[in-house]
Amino acid sequence: MNKTFQEAMDFRHACKSFQEEKEISKENMDFILNAARLSPSSYGLEFTKYLLIKNKDLKEKIKNLAMGQEQVSINSSLLVVLVAIEDSKISSPTPKDRFNRLEVNKEIKSMFLDYYHSYVKEHLNNDEQILAWTSKQAYLAVGNIMTAAATKGIDSCAIEGFNKKEVEKLLNLDTKKYQVALLLPLGYRKNEQRESLRLPLSELVQYID
Ligand SMILES: Cc1cc2nc3c(=O)[nH]c(=O)nc-3n(C[C@H](O)[C@H](O)[C@H](O)COP(=O)(O)O)c2cc1C
Repeated sequence: MNKTFQEAMDFRHACKSFQEEKEISKENMDFILNAARLSPSSYGLEFTKYLLIKNKDLKEKIKNLAMGQEQVSINSSLLVVLVAIEDSKISSPTPKDRFNRLEVNKEIKSMFLDYYHSYVKEHLNNDEQILAWTSKQAYLAVGNIMTAAATKGIDSCAIEGFNKKEVEKLLNLDTKKYQVALLLPLGYRKNEQRESLRLPLSELVQYID
């Protein structure tokens, strides 16, 4: 039975240790990946990509580049969240191709492309800026992935603690094209979760009436 949204939010925690032999079914993994696919992206341009790694040797190597964090290796599936660098640039045909999917007339499509190119000129002047912008969008998808997984009783742990350059080298990524935003191991918890520590709403939110 699927968990409700609230049950999934209560269930999700940063899982530090996964059961080694319990694999995520193809059906559940497709459900999780579809949550990524349906996530919002700026201008609808979809500059996030995913590598789904099950290979144990490769996971072990990535774990060693992630401060030896056990959850990176001993689990069913390691999602490496990538962002597209080159595709975001004015020189790339990708934005035009993506806008062409819209069911609007040619003039509107070309207006969207002009808007986008002005945005790039103003805000995305180098690969670092593109990485920061595309990563923000990738993180939104990761939030959805983690909650979607939790509805199926599947655990996860967002991992930022890794050597980005070395992981990219290990994965043979051409970093002009793709860079790693985040690692996300997925699997089934070995231990019970700790109590979640959260500030009360009164400290979190300032209500402006
Ligand atoms: C962007 C991001 C990066 C994180 N990186 C790591 C990490 O490298 N290792 C780790 O064990 N947890 C990592 N976490 C998990 C947080 O430590 C965890 O979400 C936080 O302590 C709250 O605990 P909870 O998720 O169990 O409620 C990361 C979380 C986020 C959102």
